[in-house]
Amino acid sequence: MARVELKSISKSFGGVPVLSGIELDVADGEFLTLVGASGCGKSTLIRIIAGLEPQSSGSVLINGAPVDHLRPHERQVAMVFQSYALYPHMRVFANIGLPLMMSRLNLFERLPIIRMLSARRRRVMAEIESEVRAVTKQLQIDALLERRPSQLSGGQRQRVALGRAMVRHPAAFLMDEPLSNLDAKLRVHMRTELAELHDRLGTTFIYVTHDQVEAMTMSDRVAMMDNGTILQIGRPGDLYMRPANLKVAQFIGTPAINLLPAKVSSAGSVELFGAELPIRARRPAGSAMTLGIRPEAITLAPLGTSRPGMHLLPGRLRRSENLGPEHMLHIDLTSPASGTIICSVAGDHEPLTSDSRGLALLFMPSACHVFDVEGHRIDDVEAASAAAAPSSDPHARAFGATLCPLLPKAGEPCAPCGGPAARTS
Ligand SMILES: Nc1ncnc2c1ncn2[C@@H]1O[C@H](COP(=O)(O)OP(=O)(O)OP(=O)(O)O)[C@@H](O)[C@H]1O
Ligand SMILES: [Mg+2]
Repeated sequence: MARVELKSISKSFGGVPVLSGIELDVADGEFLTLVGASGCGKSTLIRIIAGLEPQSSGSVLINGAPVDHLRPHERQVAMVFQSYALYPHMRVFANIGLPLMMSRLNLFERLPIIRMLSARRRRVMAEIESEVRAVTKQLQIDALLERRPSQLSGGQRQRVALGRAMVRHPAAFLMDEPLSNLDAKLRVHMRTELAELHDRLGTTFIYVTHDQVEAMTMSDRVAMMDNGTILQIGRPGDLYMRPANLKVAQFIGTPAINLLPAKVSSAGSVELFGAELPIRARRPAGSAMTLGIRPEAITLAPLGTSRPGMHLLPGRLRRSENLGPEHMLHIDLTSPASGTIICSVAGDHEPLTSDSRGLALLFMPSACHVFDVEGHRIDDVEAASAAAAPSSDPHARAFGATLCPLLPKAGEPCAPCGGPAARTS
């Protein structure tokens, strides 16, 4: 078990900076994922933790003690690589047991002749065999011990690589894109297996991936990297619900967040395609901003529909993708708006016919993410009216109004949420 701390880690290759002042504190037993686009420095960072690459400056601490002077095998961490790094001429048993043989047998005991004669060697090998069998049983590859890597599927090879790490009982597992060579279906399966393995072992996992779905589904916390820095670190839901930065907002979430250009109006509100939204950003009038709207935050309705508290953008359906449980709709915004929006609706949503191609895209302004011109999240956005204020009233959350727009008579309670009706007829 290990707490892993990184203090101001920087790294340059030939004068070119690749990591800049990385600070990270991974708790004992935590599953932390480093995620980011190709080339952002994930592998370099995990290799520095493993001791496979020296940092240019800064320090790595394991359980509070600096390990910068220790060689990889002395750090009590085990690395699992994307390439599996198995020895092709060795059987599964030897591939997994090798680290134990190297640490427990001396040079003579590894020689062919001594193998036959040494009683100590026989005893040590019996211990190693039982440990290898225990690990392979956990990974459900105990029937494959006599095979060579070339006789295994990708998923089985990956398990052998995991087994070789597990058999050492490391204080922390370091994994660099271990699932990237697997096909999509197996990746989904192995995702669950890895998460369950982590639960079972309770050991610290530091996991590298460029796949945000892997990061979101397995991790306790996610650190999103960009250009050698950590942009945001938090629980998966934090990065999705409150991205600190435009890059995080764009990277996390499938399909990606919709981004629209906006600015601060002369009255101090957020202005989108000439219309003022009931939210204020404390920025000077005219300041450029970007508004982010998640695809699932948009409700579709026939053009001309309005809902209290919701903002409307007109659009035209360009393309619909049926994914089974949901439809992904690509919609071209029409005047006065412009650009393309992707929104997702449930698979049983009424089919959109060519007649319904003129659409109203409705969303709650309070559901928007607002970013300044540098891409930083603007946190001091405030509701400009009661309609946009966060509310505990289920009507307000569902419809953006404190009164239910669905019921025919005023004063009648709404069956789903018990609130008063809006209509008077
Ligand atoms: N040994 C090296 N010499 C010079 N530059 C290097 C070396 N290793 C990595 N780099 C550079 O450092 C940067 C970060 O590389 P790194 O492998 O850490 O990225 P990554 O985030 O793991 O990318 P990927 O998702 O493609 O694996 C890249 O620009 C890469 O070209
Ligand atoms: Mg890499």
